[in-house]
Amino acid sequence: MYRHTLGLALASLPVALAATYNVEVGAGGQLAYDPPYITASAGDTVNFIFNPKNHTVTQSSFNTPCVSSNGFKTGFVPVSANTSSADLPVKQFTVPAGTAPLWFYCGQTGHCGQGMVFAINAPADPDPHSFSAFQKLAIATNGTGSSTHATTSAFSTPPPQHWQTATATVTAGGSTWTTTYTSYDGTPPPTPAAQPVDHKITVGADGLLAYNPPNITASIGDTVTFEFHPKNHTVTQSSFSDPCHAVVKSDGSSGFKSGFTPVAANATSFPTFQIKINDTAPIWGYCGQTGHCQQGMVFAINAVESSANNFEAFLEIAKNSGNSTSTGTATSSSTTSTSTDKSGALGLQFSPRFSLVALVIGVFSAALL
Ligand SMILES: *[C@@H]1O[C@H](CO)[C@@H](O)[C@H](O)[C@H]1NC(C)=O
Ligand SMILES: *[C@@H]1O[C@H](CO)[C@@H](O)[C@H](O)[C@H]1NC(C)=O
Ligand SMILES: *[C@@H]1O[C@H](CO)[C@@H](O)[C@H](O)[C@H]1NC(C)=O
Ligand SMILES: *[C@@H]1O[C@H](CO)[C@@H](O)[C@H](O)[C@H]1NC(C)=O
Ligand SMILES: *[C@@H]1O[C@H](CO)[C@@H](O)[C@H](O)[C@H]1NC(C)=O
Ligand SMILES: *[C@@H]1O[C@H](CO)[C@@H](O)[C@H](O)[C@H]1NC(C)=O
Ligand SMILES: *[C@@H]1O[C@H](CO)[C@@H](O)[C@H](O)[C@H]1NC(C)=O
Ligand SMILES: *[C@@H]1O[C@H](CO)[C@@H](O)[C@H](O)[C@H]1NC(C)=O
Repeated sequence: MYRHTLGLALASLPVALAATYNVEVGAGGQLAYDPPYITASAGDTVNFIFNPKNHTVTQSSFNTPCVSSNGFKTGFVPVSANTSSADLPVKQFTVPAGTAPLWFYCGQTGHCGQGMVFAINAPADPDPHSFSAFQKLAIATNGTGSSTHATTSAFSTPPPQHWQTATATVTAGGSTWTTTYTSYDGTPPPTPAAQPVDHKITVGADGLLAYNPPNITASIGDTVTFEFHPKNHTVTQSSFSDPCHAVVKSDGSSGFKSGFTPVAANATSFPTFQIKINDTAPIWGYCGQTGHCQQGMVFAINAVESSANNFEAFLEIAKNSGNSTSTGTATSSSTTSTSTDKSGALGLQFSPRFSLVALVIGVFSAALL
């Protein structure tokens, strides 16, 4: 009898603990969530109470605080200044299973860059993935003075590049093509290789969790052949700011991926995966096998060494992107692929007369860059 009662009490414990948190969004006209962060358990409810102005609550990831991860989003919630507090709109969020930190920001122009961010279960300072580190990164990446680096105790993410998109209409040989390409300071103009070259990169050679070489330059029209050595690796395109997740391009399509390629330890021939270089803008990639990216198994093609977004910086972000639930970026985030730096979303539109078009574009780009 005693035992039975105790069992019941224990069974009801999780229900008793489910909590509701009220978070004011923009109260008193401030660009802030109040409280700015909470600690919550799976199943708890967060009520976001929208005060006057026009804010959002949008889920992001630690490394890209002001970019939607395609997780939770309220959309814009405009509230007029004379709305009484009883009538403020409320949006609910239910904390999902797992204790991984969750990151959010306001998507209204300029708000995130002024530090309007929120977190659930962020580790406490001085952890490099604390709430204050996240807020600093938001201000550093999207603030008005965003050329200054965000400094967390572990690493700093370089500022975003100044991208430009150019569209050129080219008439040659009686035909007309329109082509769009993107570039940033220091990126070579999109000129084709005189003679296309095939670049070889080994994947996991000698049992190392590495691409070799990890960091190459290639011209338009060149190919890159990845050669898989024993173990079970992938070649997956990502983006500078989110090295360990497959990129989702701005048009919703994905980048290149080889899929898992298991190779026996005694194999004598090695399978390959080839990509073609369509643009001189940087290409970033990683091995999708559990833990490999965080151990530095990443590569870059046409990274600009003199830029803040160089291969070393990319490698550093990969190593810091976390393996465990204490770091927020690695867990439950298969949907958090973002490409703030657009480096996955590039491409000359191909035509059968590609080399001719690209050649003419080279002239255009020389003027534009
Ligand atoms: C923050 O900056 C990134 C990169 O420039 C941009 O894609 C994103 O839209 C910005 N976010 C906000 C909320 O302005
Ligand atoms: C709220 O902000 C969004 C984005 O800036 C804008 O498109 C929308 O028109 C605004 N709504 C109101 C009612 O001001
Ligand atoms: C709030 O003010 C607007 C104009 O400023 C008015 O149209 C609206 O009726 C007011 N709403 C309330 C609830 O008083
Ligand atoms: C990446 O390539 C550049 C240019 O070849 C080189 O200067 C740099 O040292 C390389 N970085 C690494 C980590 O290999
Ligand atoms: C390769 O790795 C993937 C992902 O971990 C796994 O699903 C697959 O079974 C592995 N293949 C072999 C042959 O080990
Ligand atoms: C590799 O080893 C497996 C079993 O360990 C064997 O079945 C296979 O024949 C070997 N292959 C080669 C190429 O030696
Ligand atoms: C280049 O374009 C081809 C054809 O559109 C595409 O299959 C390939 O993945 C592109 N290469 C890269 C590196 O994106
Ligand atoms: C991730 O795990 C690898 C190996 O287990 C370790 O070398 C690396 O430091 C870890 N990274 C983080 C951020 O915990």
